Amino acid sequence: MKGRGGAVPRVKGRNASAALAVRPARRDEIGVALVGWGTIGSGVIKLLEDRRREIDARLGARLRLVGVADIDLKRKREVEVSRALLTSRTQELIRDPKVDVVIELMGGLEPARTFVLDAIAHGKSIVTANKALLAHHGTEILAAAEARGVGCRFEASVGGGIPIIRTLREALAADRQTAVFGIVNGTSNYILSTMAAAGRSFAEVLADAQKAGLAEADPTYDVDGIDAAHKLTLLVQLAFGVRVALDAVHTEGIRDVDASDMEYARELGYAIKLLAIAKDHGNAIEARVHPTMIPAHDPLAAVSGAFNAVCVHGDALGRSMYYGQGAGMMPTATAVVADVIDVARDLRELGRPRLAPLGYPIARQRVAKVRPIGDVMSEFYLRVHAQDEPGVLGRIASLLGQQKISIASVVQRARSSGGVVPIVIRTHETRERDLRRALDRVAKMPSVRGKPVAIRIEENPG
Ligand code: HSE
Repeated sequence: MKGRGGAVPRVKGRNASAALAVRPARRDEIGVALVGWGTIGSGVIKLLEDRRREIDARLGARLRLVGVADIDLKRKREVEVSRALLTSRTQELIRDPKVDVVIELMGGLEPARTFVLDAIAHGKSIVTANKALLAHHGTEILAAAEARGVGCRFEASVGGGIPIIRTLREALAADRQTAVFGIVNGTSNYILSTMAAAGRSFAEVLADAQKAGLAEADPTYDVDGIDAAHKLTLLVQLAFGVRVALDAVHTEGIRDVDASDMEYARELGYAIKLLAIAKDHGNAIEARVHPTMIPAHDPLAAVSGAFNAVCVHGDALGRSMYYGQGAGMMPTATAVVADVIDVARDLRELGRPRLAPLGYPIARQRVAKVRPIGDVMSEFYLRVHAQDEPGVLGRIASLLGQQKISIASVVQRARSSGGVVPIVIRTHETRERDLRRALDRVAKMPSVRGKPVAIRIEENPG
């Protein structure tokens, strides 16, 4: 199709082929297919419709929605779509010659992987929000996109509407990042914030959040840290230029956080957040997701509700923080549509992607060694319930001491009705393996009731 740029200038001489290789392949219409018409998909349709004039003016071309594919076309959605655009024949839509960019919002691994690879094989650029797909099959997908010379963008996969992917890939490209960490799951942050504010239990807050549609009916991915681990694998690739295996990311969720831990944390000057943390130690990467106590004055502690925030620590820049709506229809849709615009600009101006999806060729990426969680050093908050009898605290301290764990402070509460008291201990920095060994012994003490709770403290995250 001939665009508004008119004829390509004739280039003579030795550099003619190089100049022609990058000549603008101007296009005045870019065709978009949406695969997966859920909440975010509805947001994307709405944005493409409501912001049509601004988007087309910015792009200098028309973004045209060629079709919307979903297996369920009957369910009532938040936006209406002309019947002529709707189809359940996903593969046919993807392969439609009018389609240049495929937006994959179906989620899950299959058939999303098959459709994405098929689209790439047919020369279509990809925009996806699917962090699970990228965490499991990202290497295959990104390599296929690079080899085929099509774009692949995934800004909405981490932090919803927060532009953290683009920031790491482009804005921070001059720096050497040493840590990337933050709150990347809005559901668990909402639950923890509500528990802290209302003094309520995890189970109660989760049940209410599910009733209000703020948490999924099956909340496993969100509350068990799996979604955050998926996102962390993507952040690691962008921040450190290496890959870590998903199953090497130590992943703990928030189910065991008790309302009393929230209260003790507050008294000690901390907040409890589900953090995804990655640090580059040169010879190994630390990559872990778990409830974490952070100082109440840390900006991350103020991130509440369904908001997300990602902090990056770079040698030259120091710490920077990116904050905003980590989920939701319109915030996430802005990231998806911005990716579409990005890819469309490249198609229009260059006829190919300006940048590899990660900002560097996937072939250069090596798999990094992940430091085993047992070797990670942290301070710890411990809560042990024990029979209130003389010497019990001394025996716990002695078991910790045998593993060379130094105690920073102890809080012992008043005797409870059953004669069992919570003992809260804060340790100095210790190797996790030693701490676990000591806690196993503490748990076996006849006067100890239930399983001791341990929460890592990040005094100065990043
Ligand atoms: N389930 C995710 C969250 C939403 O709760 O943050 C988008 O990744």
